[in-house]
Amino acid sequence: MSGNAANDGSGADALDEDLCVQACERCPALVDSRSRIVNGVGPADADLVFVGEGPGEQEDQQGEPFVGRSGDVLNEALRDAGLARADVRITNCVRCRPPENRDPHQEELANCRGYLETELDRIDPDVIVTLGKVPSQHLLDRDVAITKEAGDVDEARIAGESRRVLLSVHPAATLYDRSQREGFFGTIAEAADLAGAAESDGGQSRLGEY
Ligand code: URA
Repeated sequence: MSGNAANDGSGADALDEDLCVQACERCPALVDSRSRIVNGVGPADADLVFVGEGPGEQEDQQGEPFVGRSGDVLNEALRDAGLARADVRITNCVRCRPPENRDPHQEELANCRGYLETELDRIDPDVIVTLGKVPSQHLLDRDVAITKEAGDVDEARIAGESRRVLLSVHPAATLYDRSQREGFFGTIAEAADLAGAAESDGGQSRLGEY
């Protein structure tokens, strides 16, 4: 279900509605460049949350994260790892498309941080996967050499909680450089394993259902 779709009255969907930003004008340049606010999608009790940088053109048009070419690669890697897109949460550091797909500025990341923190805090996932350098640096609050660190697990302090973060290259990297594909697919498989292991340790993972 799209995170921007109307809810059906169930608990998880009601929570999902709560996680949707309906209106925001904090970033003048992004207000100008966006067609709409693109909220996260996926279950509000997901074990795995994927965090990208910000919406691109397709996402801005369709109102859903990772629905363009990068999304195709992500979907394929999820399938390869035995996961369905509908079973994981997918969101971004900023919810409005930056002009000409530039990286979000620090101030824009900061303006949107509260929405992301609320989302991660409420969903309480076993693992957060950062897709690319921008979300990795943003959540870990340090410099990241993403090609070198992809596949590593680190801890981030988010809304007062220590959260497990798995670093990944951005799926678009596999489109520019095919040699990154194997590593990217391996990291997504690692994400599935980590979430599955959290379930065996007594967590409430939904991944075993699939
Ligand atoms: N790239 C991102 O970082 N996020 C999207 O939603 C799409 C492409």
